[in-house]
Amino acid sequence: MTPAEVLDALPLPAALIGADQRIAAINASFAALIGTDTTGWHYVKALRQPAVIEAIEQVLATGKPAKASYQGGSLGRETTFEAHVKQAGDAALLTLIDHTDAEVAGKMRRDFVANVSHELRTPLTALTGFIETLRGAARNDEDARDRFLGIMGQEAERMTRLVDELMALSRLEETERRKPATLVNLCDIITAASQGLSIIGQNAAVDLIFDLPDAPVTVAGDSAQLQQVIMNLVENAIKYGGSGGRVIVTLHPISALKALRGKGAAITVHDFGDGIADHQIARLTERFYRVDNHRSREVGGTGLGLAIVKHIVNRHRGRLQIASALGAGTTVTVLLPAD
Ligand SMILES: Nc1ncnc2c1ncn2[C@@H]1O[C@H](COP(=O)(O)OP(=O)(O)OP(=O)(O)O)[C@@H](O)[C@H]1O
Ligand SMILES: [Mg+2]
Repeated sequence: MTPAEVLDALPLPAALIGADQRIAAINASFAALIGTDTTGWHYVKALRQPAVIEAIEQVLATGKPAKASYQGGSLGRETTFEAHVKQAGDAALLTLIDHTDAEVAGKMRRDFVANVSHELRTPLTALTGFIETLRGAARNDEDARDRFLGIMGQEAERMTRLVDELMALSRLEETERRKPATLVNLCDIITAASQGLSIIGQNAAVDLIFDLPDAPVTVAGDSAQLQQVIMNLVENAIKYGGSGGRVIVTLHPISALKALRGKGAAITVHDFGDGIADHQIARLTERFYRVDNHRSREVGGTGLGLAIVKHIVNRHRGRLQIASALGAGTTVTVLLPAD
């Protein structure tokens, strides 16, 4: 049995560096990562990255184990490895553990925290500013006080909404793997959601039209979550597509659909507003993504509504489709499997 054969049995890229500072053996995944067979090379020439070279130097000199980060860039994909170097006889054994997923997850977490902080900072800055003004310059100005309190109320509402949506998202992440089991009638769910929505429609001078079949349309679903889907989609249609004057919500049973692998139902929310550019459609379900950042924020959006919709649809094993044409309007379709 040769050292290379032992290394080949390891599930990680690995190399053995001899006391003579030359690479005594490598395994196939190490060769694939480096791109060539470096057996016999001086390790400095084979590895080229100061942190790893230093770690090997230390192990060869002192026998104490060392760790370092190693960047691999294979096939256009940036990969980050944790390089572990340990003494093996009078040689040093280098193994590389792929840490890319952990790095990506870490970055997502940092981005998420940065986004949340940013979203909270804006209303907080406004609140602090107004409190300051009310204590000082506007202390005896009744009109200003009323106006400022109005704005402060709105900003507080924005923060409440953000926190509610974040909590909804984290609850959803917990339940996403469990597909709902109870049968629900989508006609009832849409009718229930329509009550609160009609007020929003009236305030925005948008005609809300619900085109529902008479017969029940049943799917296996979570009724509160599906109501949330309707609310978020129709609210968006009113807020961003309201210039078209009307929003149509339809519900159809589907007898066979490839995307659902069988029977199901389709809910569509159709508006006649400005529409969304093609390149932005794919990003709409990202957390905190807004098309027109300033305008969306003005109408109260935090960019979480569609991320929530996406999670709920995923939990139901359904599909979310967004079609839009600039100037003509947007159609969002939710396909849900019957069971
Ligand atoms: N029907 C639509 N027409 C045009 N743009 C839309 C439509 N629906 C969504 N958008 C765009 O997509 C963005 C993301 O929507 P989403 O519902 O996720 O967030 P939001 O409405 O900004 O905030 P939230 O729903 O969390 O209050 C919106 O900011 C808006 O720019
Ligand atoms: Mg929204």
